[in-house]
Amino acid sequence: MALQVEVLQETFQQIKENTDEFAISFYENLFHDYPQIQPLFARTNMTEQHKHLVRALMLTIENIRDAETVNDALTQLGARHVQYGALKEYYPEFCAALLKTFELYLGENWTAEVKQAWVEAFAAISQIMLEGAEKIA
Ligand code: HEM
Repeated sequence: MALQVEVLQETFQQIKENTDEFAISFYENLFHDYPQIQPLFARTNMTEQHKHLVRALMLTIENIRDAETVNDALTQLGARHVQYGALKEYYPEFCAALLKTFELYLGENWTAEVKQAWVEAFAAISQIMLEGAEKIA
């Protein structure tokens, strides 16, 4: 899949200005829209988790042209998610909450083109993570 790398990197800059608020807002959206996911985080240090999520997204987007590095990191991340209880059907919900939060943060820069770029990026990220999950299943 040919991802819109420039669009992704450019728009992610805006999120990077507010990473703490972005992460807090993301998990609020996730747990509000998909309450079935909240118990998975019952024993998670959410302050640390906010940093983990943002760092993983940042590493992915900044290294997106280095397919091998990104693939390896996401495959391993997906494999670890099996023990977190991240079922396959939760991935679209997780991505929907990410898109919703991006929309909130990008405001008028959230155009149809930008939305499409992120929809495709999250689909690709989920696919690689799920391949990693299947490998150890
Ligand atoms: C775009 C996809 C996702 C990304 C980039 C992502 C990223 C991360 C990262 C970086 C961690 C920190 C721990 C580690 O590195 O192994 C983590 C932990 C976690 N993730 Fe995800 N995740 C994604 C999707 C999901 C989904 C779909 C679920 C399930 C609904 C989920 C549930 C969890 C849980 C429960 C933890 C906490 C583990 C703990 O308590 O230590 N994640 N995630």
